[in-house]
Formats: sequence, structure tokens, C-alpha cells
Amino acid sequence: MTEKLITKYLELTDANKIDVFESKDGYSRIQKVLKELKPEEVVDEVKKSNLRGLGGAGFSTGMKWSFIPKDGKKPVYLVCNCDEAEPGTFKDRHIVTSTPHLLLEGMMIAAFAVNAHKAYIFIRGEYERPYERLAKAVEEAYAKGYLGKNIFGSGYDLDIVVHQGAGAYICGEESALLEALEGKKGWPRLKPPFPAVVGLFGCPTVINNVETLSYLPLVMQGGADWFSKLAGEEKSGGTRLFCVSGHVNKPGIYELPVDTTLRSLIYDHAGGIRGGKQLKAVVPGGISAPILSAEEIDVKMDFDSLRAAGTMAGSGGVMVMDEDTNMVEALMVASRFFAHESCGQCSPCREGSAWLYKIVKRINEGEGRVEDLDSMLSIAGNISGTTICALGDAAAMPVTSYIKKFRSDFEDYISDCHLPVETQS
Ligand SMILES: Cc1cc2nc3c(=O)[nH]c(=O)nc-3n(C[C@H](O)[C@H](O)[C@H](O)COP(=O)(O)O)c2cc1C
Repeated sequence: MTEKLITKYLELTDANKIDVFESKDGYSRIQKVLKELKPEEVVDEVKKSNLRGLGGAGFSTGMKWSFIPKDGKKPVYLVCNCDEAEPGTFKDRHIVTSTPHLLLEGMMIAAFAVNAHKAYIFIRGEYERPYERLAKAVEEAYAKGYLGKNIFGSGYDLDIVVHQGAGAYICGEESALLEALEGKKGWPRLKPPFPAVVGLFGCPTVINNVETLSYLPLVMQGGADWFSKLAGEEKSGGTRLFCVSGHVNKPGIYELPVDTTLRSLIYDHAGGIRGGKQLKAVVPGGISAPILSAEEIDVKMDFDSLRAAGTMAGSGGVMVMDEDTNMVEALMVASRFFAHESCGQCSPCREGSAWLYKIVKRINEGEGRVEDLDSMLSIAGNISGTTICALGDAAAMPVTSYIKKFRSDFEDYISDCHLPVETQS
């Protein structure tokens, strides 16, 4: 089954314009919510829908909202995470560029549900065109009275501010994002307290990903029951956008039920492996996700199935590698990214990610030693679980999984490089 929920808007010509969006049910869902539901009923509906956070962690969206204190002593903020810096992930920029009003309608629903009157969109600094589209959409919504005071004549007020980041992967981590939004250096905060209790400017805050928020109008339109049943998994509802890149015939964004298998995504939807080659490996959820070998692709793509398979669904970035892929080089590229993006706050990540990159780079340059592999596993093991945020784990996971699953590739590469030049393969 191929459901086009967000894709319906992505494929619509000029869906970035408010009139076109409105001609396809746009802003009808928020009006219905404002007219017919209480905030807590929206929270319950979203809980029932099994919509999980699509920024990476897969936490239940309705559940996250329910952690906002009900005492109302402090203002509540909604923050949309549009940092999208995870390599292999390119869905949020497509939503924001092609159908920004879908995101705005989703934000209105989320803000109403948690009783927020001010919301921020934190958008990655490099996303110039998406930013322009988004800023224009916000302007259009204000001009029509859909944002500001008394929206849709409901008595409910909401302002949305678009804030451009400065191009740092760490600012996608929710607490670093909040620091950056407050004008400080983007360093992750120690948790607890969690943002639902102490978030932006010390106030209760909900942070959701662009795609998560963009599903809300569709969940409210079709109902929680319908959405949850789009996938046959008990705790994961609906569809999601998979970003397929690498050695496939048809790279692109595919919206599919979350219980689709990785094999089906690659072969039935993305056209199989380029040039009739064999599959070697797949990173299923953005560069941080542990790699899977070709024998492991019968796994379903929902959060729980991928976790049970020792990897993660993450941000939906599926990177496909064919039989010719040099695993040493692939790991070097991943490690270079994490060493560059480590914010430097925690020593294990700051030092460890740099050591890992230095070693794998040396291996790639032909100066590797077999004992380097165990050193890398040991360094990765000493980073995991010892840092304030998950960037440390993200730097360690590719190293551990690439070496464990493709150790012979690394060993052969190291020994081949030490052969006399004329006999090297
Ligand atoms: C290093 C790091 C980078 C992250 N980058 C992003 C990002 O670019 N976009 C995003 O939505 N979530 C990102 N996250 C996850 C966020 O911290 C957070 O879980 C997410 O925005 C919550 O939204 P959701 O519940 O809708 O998924 C990142 C996490 C880490 C540890």
C-alpha cells in the first residue's frame, strides 16, 4: 500500500502558495480542531494515533505533549526543529520548500494542544531557499489573519517566529537548539530537567521535528484510528518519509507505511541497485545509525523493529552501498563528520571522535595496523553513554558496527596496503 499523505502536497504544483494549499483542505483541519476540540482532546487523539517523533528519537508525540505542566504559571513554547543536518536526510527541507503551510497548520494544532501562544521554527543556516519560502508562508498566514490574535475567530492567539541557525549539527539536538535560540553557544543541556518542564527561557517547551508536525493536519483529518492502522505495528502509526540515497536506481523521498521492509523500500520503490550490482550494506536511519549488511534487510522500518535489529530508524535517511563500496573510506567519511561536528563540551566525544577520525584516516591512507581496529572499538566503547547528548553515541555507533560487520574488509585493506605495490589488489 502506498499512501500519499504529505507527498500529496509535495507533488502539488505551487503548494507553497496559501490559496493552492487551501484548495486541498489546507487550514480546514486547524479550524475544525479550534471549533470542536479541547486541547486535551487533541493530545489524546495524537497519542492514540501512535505518531512517533520523526526527528530521530521516535518518542510518542502525544505522550511528549502530555508532560507539559498543567498549572499554567509560565508561558508554554512550541519549537519546530528544522535543523536537518543528519547526513542522508533531506525530507524537512522538501516539506518547508514545497508545502510550508502544511507545517504551519501542524504547528497551530500542536500549539493549541499544549496551550502555547508563541512558537519558533529553528531552521538550519544553510537552508536559504527553504527559509525564504517559510518566511513568505508565515507572512501570507499573518496577512490572512491565520496567525496573530484570535485566529480563525476562535479567541486563540498564536505567533510564529522563524529563526535561522548558523550551520552546526549540534543545534539539531533539542537542548542545544534551545540554547542557540536564546542567543547562546549551542551546547546541549544536562537532562533532567527535560524541556517539557524547563525549556526555552526556562519555560515549558515542546520541541518537534518538521515532519512530525506536518503529519498533524492529516492525523486530525483522517482520525487517530485510521492513521494508527496505516502500519500494522502496534506502537508505530502511519507512514513516514524515507530519504533514499546512494547506489540505487531511483534515489528520492518515498512515503510509506512504517512497517514496510528495508528490502521492499530498496527494490520495490527505489528501483534496486544501480548497474545491476549486488547490495553490500545499508545505513537505515541517517549517518548515526549502525550499518546493516545485505543479509539484514528483511527488517521492517518502524522504530521498534529496527531497534530490535541493533540499529535505528532515526531520521529516515537510508543510505545504500553496493558491492564496490570501500568500507574504510565510508567509515572515514562518517568519522570525519562527527569529529568536525562534536561541539567540544564533553571530553570523551571531543577527544574520542577526533582520535577515531585520525585512525581511520590513517588506515585509509595505507598506514593502518590490524591492532587499530581493536583500538577504535575500545575508543568507541569509551565514548558511548558518557556524554551529555547523543552525538557521542552517534560518533561511536558507525565505528562499532562497520568494524564488527565488515572486519575482514578492514583487515584486507590494511594488509593489501602493506604488500609490495605491484601485487596490491
Ligand atoms: C546530535 C543530534 C542532532 C539532532 N539533529 C536533529 C535535527 O536536525 N532535526 C530534528 O528534528 N531532530 C534532531 N535531533 C533530535 C532532537 O534532539 C529531538 O529529539 C527532536 O527534534 C524531537 O522532535 P520529534 O519528537 O518530533 O522527533 C538531533 C539529536 C541529536 C542528539
